[in-house]
Amino acid sequence: MDCVGIIGYGHMGSMLVNGFLASGALRVDEVVVASRSRESRDACAGAWPGIGIAATNRELARRCRTIILAVRPREIRGVLNEIVSVMDGDEQIVSLAAGISLDDLEGLFPGSVTRVVPTVTSAVGQGTTLICHGRQVGMHDTLRVEGLFSSIGDVVLVGEDDLPAATILSSCGPGLFAAIIDELAGATARASGLPPDRALMLATETVAATAAYLRETGEAPGDLIERVATGGGVTEAGVQRLRERLPGVFDEAVAAMLQRYGAVGK
Ligand SMILES: NC(=O)c1ccc[n+]([C@@H]2O[C@H](COP(=O)([O-])OP(=O)(O)OC[C@H]3O[C@@H](n4cnc5c(N)ncnc54)[C@H](OP(=O)(O)O)[C@@H]3O)[C@@H](O)[C@H]2O)c1
Repeated sequence: MDCVGIIGYGHMGSMLVNGFLASGALRVDEVVVASRSRESRDACAGAWPGIGIAATNRELARRCRTIILAVRPREIRGVLNEIVSVMDGDEQIVSLAAGISLDDLEGLFPGSVTRVVPTVTSAVGQGTTLICHGRQVGMHDTLRVEGLFSSIGDVVLVGEDDLPAATILSSCGPGLFAAIIDELAGATARASGLPPDRALMLATETVAATAAYLRETGEAPGDLIERVATGGGVTEAGVQRLRERLPGVFDEAVAAMLQRYGAVGK
């Protein structure tokens, strides 16, 4: 009954299973997985011999006290309605679903509920998982969930009102930065004889090194720019173009993401 159950063995569900087990936060006999398709359940059993596989979501709910919902937002209501009748009320529900509020979740399961927003970079033990606990989450469940997710990266507690904005940065962020790396490498390769794969490698390494530098030195991005973009130099020519165009582009991108976030799960 102290097992951690994960419903949905897709991108996020499989990443969590891999992360919790590879980090040693959980043993295979402490995890039970359920997923809609036989293929997903077989893939999980094949990847982690000895892991618990539940044929149905209800079977998982009978076996686990901590139940992580790693299904798409539109599936959350159906899955919770399906399992709630076999739960005894003292379980903890951990939902990954964007746009499904704590109130929505507590309306379906009037107990301990937590929203968690992981990030794809947790697959390499990097990045921030956002955590937002509901009103009824006790100390034991708080520590249990925060401990689990800190095994796959950093954990930051946020209020629900801040979740959309924080999600854009921590969870959508890898997609945004990947787009920037792609554009920068592509533009450099198009404008030169540099092979695209070499340009991509250099751009990727530079982004990782820049993030490491800012994190380790605590320097503000503006100060780093001043250090690199000397007056009349090469970097300054590029930064100037970006400063002219990027604020408008990013304002539009953030507005579009916040609007879409509000519509998810409705
Ligand atoms: N992708 C991200 O970067 C990211 C980041 C933060 C949060 N999230 C959230 O994480 C959740 C999962 O996203 P994802 O990208 O992992 O989606 P996904 O790859 O589509 O995985 C969802 C899985 O849920 C399973 N499933 C669907 N309906 C089910 C049901 N009724 N019972 C049991 N299993 C069911 C599917 O299983 P089968 O394959 O077996 O059919 C599928 O593999 C979403 O709510 C999303 O908002 C995602």
